[in-house]
Amino acid sequence: MKKLFLVTLLLGSSMGILSAQTPVYLDDAQPIEKRVEDALNRMTLEEKVALCHAQSKFSSAGVPRLGIPELWMSDGPHGVRAEINWNDWGYANWTNDSITAFPALTCLAATWNPEMAAKYGKAIGEEARYRKKDVLLGPGVNIYRTPLNGRNFEYMGEDPYLSSVMCVPYIQELQKNGVAACVKHYALNNQEQWRDHIDVNLSDRALYEIYLPAFKAAVQQGGAWSIMGAYNKIRGQHACHNELTLNKILKEDWKFDGCVITDWGGAHDTYEAAVNGMDIEMGSYTNGLTSESQFTYDDYYLARPYLQMLKEGKVPMSTIDDKASRILRLIFRTAMNRQKPYGSLCTVEHYATAREIGDEGIVLLKNRPLSRKGEPLLPIAADRYRQILVVGDNAVRVLTQGGGSSELKAKETVTPLDGLRALYGNKVRYARGYAADAPMYGQAGKIPQQVADSLRDEAVEMAKQAGLVILVGGLNKNYLQDCEGGDRVDYGLPYGQDELIEALLEVNPNLVLVLLSGNAVEMPWVERVPAIVQGWYLGSMGGQSLADVLGGTVNPSGKLPFSFPVRLTDCGAHAFDALSYPGDGVRQEYKEDILVGYRWYDTRKIPALFPFGHGLSYTTFAYGKPVASARTMAADGSLTITVPVKNEGNMAGKEVVQLYIGDEECSVLRPLKELKHFAKVALAPGEEQTVTFTVTPDDLKFYDEAAKAWVAEPGKFKVYIGASSTDIRGTVRFELK
Ligand code: GLC
Repeated sequence: MKKLFLVTLLLGSSMGILSAQTPVYLDDAQPIEKRVEDALNRMTLEEKVALCHAQSKFSSAGVPRLGIPELWMSDGPHGVRAEINWNDWGYANWTNDSITAFPALTCLAATWNPEMAAKYGKAIGEEARYRKKDVLLGPGVNIYRTPLNGRNFEYMGEDPYLSSVMCVPYIQELQKNGVAACVKHYALNNQEQWRDHIDVNLSDRALYEIYLPAFKAAVQQGGAWSIMGAYNKIRGQHACHNELTLNKILKEDWKFDGCVITDWGGAHDTYEAAVNGMDIEMGSYTNGLTSESQFTYDDYYLARPYLQMLKEGKVPMSTIDDKASRILRLIFRTAMNRQKPYGSLCTVEHYATAREIGDEGIVLLKNRPLSRKGEPLLPIAADRYRQILVVGDNAVRVLTQGGGSSELKAKETVTPLDGLRALYGNKVRYARGYAADAPMYGQAGKIPQQVADSLRDEAVEMAKQAGLVILVGGLNKNYLQDCEGGDRVDYGLPYGQDELIEALLEVNPNLVLVLLSGNAVEMPWVERVPAIVQGWYLGSMGGQSLADVLGGTVNPSGKLPFSFPVRLTDCGAHAFDALSYPGDGVRQEYKEDILVGYRWYDTRKIPALFPFGHGLSYTTFAYGKPVASARTMAADGSLTITVPVKNEGNMAGKEVVQLYIGDEECSVLRPLKELKHFAKVALAPGEEQTVTFTVTPDDLKFYDEAAKAWVAEPGKFKVYIGASSTDIRGTVRFELK
C-alpha cells in the first residue's frame, strides 16, 4: 500500500495534479508568459494541434484535461450576432440573444470623434462579455477604394489616418471587458467580388501608405489581441497564410503577440498555414456565409494533416509551439481572465451610446433654401407645416437585418417613421413610395413595374397635400447592395428611387432626402433637392437619431469618411481597366496606387460631388488665420499650428477642424494633401476656441520603396486647415531642414 501511495505521489506531482501549490498556468498572480510556458510544457502534441482549428462554427478547442477553456467567437462589428448552430450557418433561435444594434462603423467614422469610438467599444464589449464571447469579430478597417464594395458599411472610409484614429479606442475599450477584438480583414479585402481568391497586386507605397496603417495602429496602439486574415490573395499568396503580411510585417515588424484567425474558409494549404503565421483555422471548406462542407473538423488543414506533417518532420515543431503559445495567451487574456467584468445587455446606457453615435455621425450634405429669401428646410420646426409626408421603404425597414455576417437580432429598433411620428405626431402621413425586395442577403425577385408605378403615384398624390416631404431612401442590406458576398452592380440608387425623387419634386419642391446607406450613390437630381442627409445604418436607435437631427434637438456634426464622386468613372479604382476593378477573375492591380479617394480627386483635379470631410451644420463656423510656431522644422523637431475657430450662428454646434499636409518638393509623386490631424470642437453661439495641432516629421513621411523605410525629405511643406478636404479655410507653409 505504502509503495502504491509513493508511486501515486511521484506520478501526481509530475502531472501537477497533487502538487501542493496551484500550477503556474492556473495562477493569476503569475506573469502571463510564465503561465503560457507552463501550460505549453504540460500539453501533448495532439492537444497543441487541437487548439489551432475550429471545433464548431464559432468555437475552437481548449485543453479539457488541463481545465483550459475553449474560445468562443462571435460576429460582428456593430453588435453581438445571434447564436448560430454548432455546425451550420443556421440560427439557433435562442430567446435570450437579442442585443443592442449599434450604428455601422461608417457612421462611427463619420463622427470624427475618438470619444465616440471609446464609448462604442465599451458598450459593445459589455454586450459581448455578457453573451460570454471571448473574441468579437470586428472592427473592420479595410479602406474604401470603390463605392461598389458591398462591405464598405462595415469599415471606416477612404483615409488610413481617420481609420487608424477611430479604431484604436474601440479596440482598447472592447478588450477591457476581457473580450478580444479581431481586427479584419487583414489585408486588402477591398471588394466582395471574387473575395475568396482574387490576387491583389499593388505597389509597396500603396500597401504601406494606404492599406496597412489602420491595422498597424490597431496592433501597436490598440493592442489588438487577434487579427482576422482576409480571404483574398496578396501578391500570389493567400492572406490567411502569407509570408510577407503575417510573418514579416505583422509578427516581425509590428511585434504582434496575438493570434491570426482565418476568415471563415480562408485557409487553403497545410504547409503554408503551418509556416506562414496562421494560428487558428475557422470555417474551412465553407463560403463563409451560407454553404457547408462535408469535411469534419479533424480534416481541417491545421488538424490531422498538420499533425501528420509535424510527426514526419515536414514542418518544424517550433511552428506548433508558436501557434499554441499565441492561442494560450489569447485564452489567458479572455476565457481564463478572472479579472474581467460581467458585462451587460440592452441597457439604458447602451441605447444612449447608440443614439449619441448616430446623432454625431449623421452628415448634413446639403441644406439650401429654395429661393434666395427662403429658409433652409432643416431643421424642421414642428409648427411650420400642417402636414408632413414621410415616404420610403427605408422609413420602415429594419436595417439591422441582412448585410451578411454583421447582421443583428436587435431587441429594440426605432425606425425613421417611428422617430418622426414621435416628434411630429399626427402631422405625419406615410407612403411607401418604392418597394425594395425582401430583406436579408438572398436576392429576392425584382419588383414588378406596375407595383413600382402605383407606389410612386400614390406617394406623389399624397405629396400634393403635404407642406413638407421627407423621403427616406438609399440602399439597404440586400445582396448586391450593402451586403457581404457581392458588390453593387451600379452606382445609382435602386428600386426606381431616382424617378420617385423627380416625380415628388414636380409636385412639391420642399423635399428632404435622407439616404440610409454605407456607400456613396449617384445623384442626378442633386441640384433640385434642397436638403440631403447622409443617414448611415444607425442601428437600434436609428429613428431617434434621425428625429434628433431633422428636428433640430441635435445640431449635425458628422463629416464624410469617404468621397461621393459625381460618376463612378471619376473614382480612381474605376479610372483604368477591369484589371484595376474588379480584376480579371484571377488577378487584380490597384492602378490608382496611393491616390485613393480624395487623394485622387485632389491630385487629378476631379471635383467630387461631396468631398471627404464634408458635413454642414445648422450654425456657421468662422476660421481665423492658421499660425505656425516656426517657419522651419528640424528633422527631430516639431512645430505647432494654431487656428482660432468661432461659432458665428445662434445654435451650439460641433466642428471638425481638419489638418492636411502637402509635400511641395519631393522626389516621388505624392498626393496634393493628406489628412494628418483633426479635432472636433464644441462651440456655444459666439464662442471662439483656438485649436492647436502638433506637427512632427512623422506627419511628413512617405514610404520609400528603395530604402524600405519611411522617409521625410527636407524641403517645403504646406499645411491646409479645412472644414473638409476641399473647404480650405487657411494655409501656412514651413520647411523641413
Ligand atoms: C464571414 C466574414 C467575416 C465574418 C466571418 C464569420 O465570411 O467575411 O467578416 O466575421 O465570416 O461569420
